[in-house]
Amino acid sequence: MAEHNLKRTSEGLAELPLVVTLDGPAGSGKTTVARMVADRLGIAYLDSGAMFRAFALGLGAQSWTWDEDVLRDRLTGLEFALRGRGGQAALLLNGEPLGEEIRQEEVGMWASNLARVGVVREILKHAQQRLGAGTSLVAEGRDMGSVVFPQARYKFFLEAAPEERARRRWLQLKEMGVDEDLDALIANLRQRDDQDRNRAIAPLKPADNAVIIDTAGLTPEEVVARIVQEAEQG
Ligand code: DC
Repeated sequence: MAEHNLKRTSEGLAELPLVVTLDGPAGSGKTTVARMVADRLGIAYLDSGAMFRAFALGLGAQSWTWDEDVLRDRLTGLEFALRGRGGQAALLLNGEPLGEEIRQEEVGMWASNLARVGVVREILKHAQQRLGAGTSLVAEGRDMGSVVFPQARYKFFLEAAPEERARRRWLQLKEMGVDEDLDALIANLRQRDDQDRNRAIAPLKPADNAVIIDTAGLTPEEVVARIVQEAEQG
């Protein structure tokens, strides 16, 4: 992959940061796959959903109804940074690693609500672009290929039926010791999908030149193999 990434400069050949985008709805397997791809390529991993979740948790319930100027004031000056490489790369907010509390179902819904607000998307888009400008990374989210990194060399969009995605999420939560009702998870996921797909700014959709992969019935290893193969052919 690296040879696609070389740029001739006055000093000779210099390598540009490599950006691989991986978008898709909640529970499509993006996180597991993005971490594994980052490990395979030895580059950082950016979980853009975690940035929306961190803002949502920090601001609290109903923050999405606040005036955009108030939101801008509260969010300006917050700095994200990436530490480390591969799937274990940590996302820091003002120097502190993001905690597990952002993973709660409710925080996911708050994040989806907040993600409809223009000023929030604008602030996070700039933060994401700054992180991608200095570091090669696999960027995971909803609009990584379509809006944030339109120039990315490799773009993928993962899909799966809502029931399959909710089942995976249920298993994931169970492993974390959280017992959720499967039907409630399906309903929650459909509502979040609906919001993410139908919002006015940067809705969830594949970038024009993204490779679409239906992950139903595929193991994460099989999806990673498809991605690495596509990228190597690219
Ligand atoms: O990937 P996730 O489920 O952790 O994301 C939580 C919410 O954040 C998601 O429902 C919508 C929003 N989001 C977004 O709008 N754009 C992104 N690039 C990533 C997440």
